[in-house]
Formats: sequence, structure tokens, C-alpha cells
Amino acid sequence: MARRLTVLGTGYLGTTHAACMAELGFEVLGVDVDADRIAALSAGRLPFYEPDLEPLLQRGLASGRLRFTTSFQEAADFGDVHFCCVGTPQGSESGGADLSQLHGCIDALAPLLTRPCLVVGKSTTPAGTAAQLAERLAGLAGPEVELAWNPEFLREGHAVADTLRPERIVAGVRSAAAEAILREVYAEPLAAGVPFVVTDFATAELVKVAANAFLATKISFINAMAEVCEAAGADVTSLAQALAYDHRIGGAGMRPGLGFGGGCLPKDIRAFRTRAQELGAGEAVSFLASVDTINTRRRTRMVELARELAGGTLAGRTVGVLGLAFKPDSDDIRDSPALDVAMALHRDGARVVAYDPAAVERAREAHPELEYAGSVLGAAADADVLLVLTEWPEFTQADPELIGKAVAQRNVADGRGALDPAAWRAAGWTYRALGRPAV
Ligand SMILES: NC(=O)c1ccc[n+]([C@@H]2O[C@H](COP(=O)([O-])OP(=O)(O)OC[C@H]3O[C@@H](n4cnc5c(N)ncnc54)[C@H](O)[C@@H]3O)[C@@H](O)[C@H]2O)c1
Repeated sequence: MARRLTVLGTGYLGTTHAACMAELGFEVLGVDVDADRIAALSAGRLPFYEPDLEPLLQRGLASGRLRFTTSFQEAADFGDVHFCCVGTPQGSESGGADLSQLHGCIDALAPLLTRPCLVVGKSTTPAGTAAQLAERLAGLAGPEVELAWNPEFLREGHAVADTLRPERIVAGVRSAAAEAILREVYAEPLAAGVPFVVTDFATAELVKVAANAFLATKISFINAMAEVCEAAGADVTSLAQALAYDHRIGGAGMRPGLGFGGGCLPKDIRAFRTRAQELGAGEAVSFLASVDTINTRRRTRMVELARELAGGTLAGRTVGVLGLAFKPDSDDIRDSPALDVAMALHRDGARVVAYDPAAVERAREAHPELEYAGSVLGAAADADVLLVLTEWPEFTQADPELIGKAVAQRNVADGRGALDPAAWRAAGWTYRALGRPAV
């Protein structure tokens, strides 16, 4: 009989994992401490935006293979494999990860486990956490319960595809039995040729943070070049294009703009630095401090660009903001560059009217002091400056002539290098972008 799975923590990662595992044919029980979230999921409603996920959730529920609960007892009785997908947000000022959700989850589950099973960590953790949790688990649950570490690489906006067909599966294990169970659970992607890397706990944990450190560095590298381009009167878009032809460099992830944000990259590079320092290897990743600083500086520069376009002051000016989520195809506003810029404009005295196809409700909850619109034209109405801060297709494909009729002045700042400058200029707009010369 197929093994029964539980997924502990039903956020962006856990809900996706639970629905995809049910889609692959497993019986799955999703568990969360948030009763409202469990009620919504049980009713087939996704409590966040992720393309293609809601139909999968509803299909899983209808098939009877997917259920949700707040009961750890039910999870312990049900599961052969328990995937731990709870949050590991930034904790202290120093940037270390807050592991309290993980400890809470293990402490709630472990004492209730009365039969052999595998607990699989998928959350992103500092190297050494899995080894500590294995000890904790052994103390609370006994020898028939084993731990494995299986970090997750999904990208919000592509979460379903990334889960069903990941680029690789990393398995940190301490026994052949644990490896065999993971191979069984991932049999379908493995049969499709997905690479399976078997390693120890610490390496599995480090693969995840090293990948995020590399991606963040790539983004900040091209944004550092954008700063130099601005000083030299050069154009970073052409520069990035020309660099991408070198196959050793490549173009993926090399888009200059407002930089990275979200619930992963910023907190993961900070936690990585903190953990490396604790391990005595802080100098090896000290460059990540610069990566972080360059990234934050893009937000400040965006506000400056808006101020320049507004004629030197933001006080009393109306600024239309297009984009609030940290990236398109997501409603995630955690450490969102777009929302950060909108708030900075507001603090500088601008009247900010913002619109995002998915993130308005979340943003309104976090920042009721901003004004929100229900459409591009609503955000553009009477604006002295329009900012494009998240590259949703609805914005990049918008008609500059039509939007021009709504605004007070045709000034646009492109925070993602995503608009066609020629088309906007032809429609009479003053177009500015980070890292590109003013024409
Ligand atoms: N979001 C992503 O794109 C992504 C990608 C790869 C890895 N990750 C990692 O996955 C982990 C989860 O991230 P997320 O974005 O899904 O977080 P999230 O905040 O959206 O979800 C965490 C969920 O865990 C629940 N929870 C908290 N304490 C619990 C407990 N003791 N028992 C059961 N449930 C509990 C919360 O109520 C919440 O629903 C993090 O470590 C993150 O770094 C996230």
C-alpha cells in the first residue's frame, strides 16, 4: 500500500506540496496551527495567490485523497512520512533564522508518534539544524522515527510545475531506509529523469542557502553594474544583453531593476551569514553583506528617480504605483521592494495610489495608510509620476497612450526594465529606468 503522507505547515510551500503529492496519487493530510487557514483549505479556497494551485487543491479534496486538520494526533496516527514545511522567518536583528515554528512542530508531533515513520524537513534552515532536530526527535519519539532533510527549491508563481517536475531533488539522509522512502515518494519525478542528490544533513541544508546566495549575488551584481552605468551615462540593459551571450555568464536572473525580495532570498542570505559567522566561516560569505546593501540601495534610488520626475519634491505629488507583490504571479508582500518603495514615497509626503493584480488585499492589511486602486487606470488617475515596480504582464503590455489620458503628467519610472521605452516615449512620456540614461 502506498505510504500516507502528512504535510505540517500549510503556507506557500506546504499547501503546494500537499496538493501536488495528492495529485501524484498519495493520501495526504495537511496540518496547520492556523484554524482559519485549515477551514479555507478544507473548503477548497486557497488563502494566497499561486497560479494553477487552486484546481489541484480542489481536485485533491474531491478525490478524497487530500484532507486538512489542526490535529497533530490525527497526523501522528495517519502518517508514514511527515513533511515539515513550517516557516523559518528572520529572527534576530543579526539576521539569524527564527526556528520556533520548526521546534513547535516537532515538539507537538514527536511525542504522539507510536509507529515507525520518517519525518522529512523541507523548511530552509541554517546548517546544523537538522542534526539538532534529529537528536530532539530521538529524545521525544524513540528509535523507530527517523529524520531526513529534503530542502525545497520551488519558485512562487511556478510552484506547481516546480514541485511536480523539480530541477533536482536533494535528500539529506542517515540511512539507506530513509533514502528508499524518499525515492518511493518521488518515484514519478525520478522516473521522468529528475536528478536525485543523496547527501548528509548539513550539505542538504547548505545546498538550499548556497543556491539562494548565488541567485541573490547574480541579481545584485547586475544592479551594481546599473549603478556604475548611471554614473558613466551607460545603459545597463544593453550591458546585460551583451553579457548574456557569454555562456559562462548566461542571462537567467541577470535582469537589472529594483532587486530581490519576498519570503526567501533576503532572510536566507542574512541567516546564512549569521550561521557562517557562528561556524567561524563568516569571512567566506562576507560579500553577502554587500549583496544585501546593493539590493536595498535600489529601493532608495527608485524613490530618488520618482522625486526627480516629480520635479524635485514628492510632497503633495500624486504617484501611481503599479505593483505591490515582490514578483509577478504572486501575492506575497514579504520584504517586497515594490511595497517598500510605495511606503517610502508616502513617508516623503506623496499621495500614493497603488494597484496590483493579486496583492492589494494583503498590502491594504499591512499598510492601510496607502490608497489602493482596482485597476491600472485607477492607479494612474491624476498621477504626476507613474512607477512600475512589479513586472506583471498587465503592466508591461499596457497601452501608454490609454494610460497617458488618465495621468496628470506623462512621467514613468520603470523599476523592472520591463517596458518598451520607445513606445512610451513615442506616446509623449518622459521615461526613466534604473541604470539607463535619461534621454
Ligand atoms: N515560499 C517559497 O517560495 C519557499 C520556497 C522554498 C523554500 N521555502 C521555505 O519553506 C518554509 C515555509 O515557507 P512558506 O513561504 O510556506 O511560509 P509560510 O509562512 O507561508 O507558511 C508557514 C505555515 O506554517 C504554519 N505553522 C507555524 N507553526 C506551525 C506549527 N508548529 N505546526 C504546524 N504549522 C505551523 C503557519 O501557520 C503557516 O501556515 C520556509 O523555511 C521557507 O524558507 C519557501
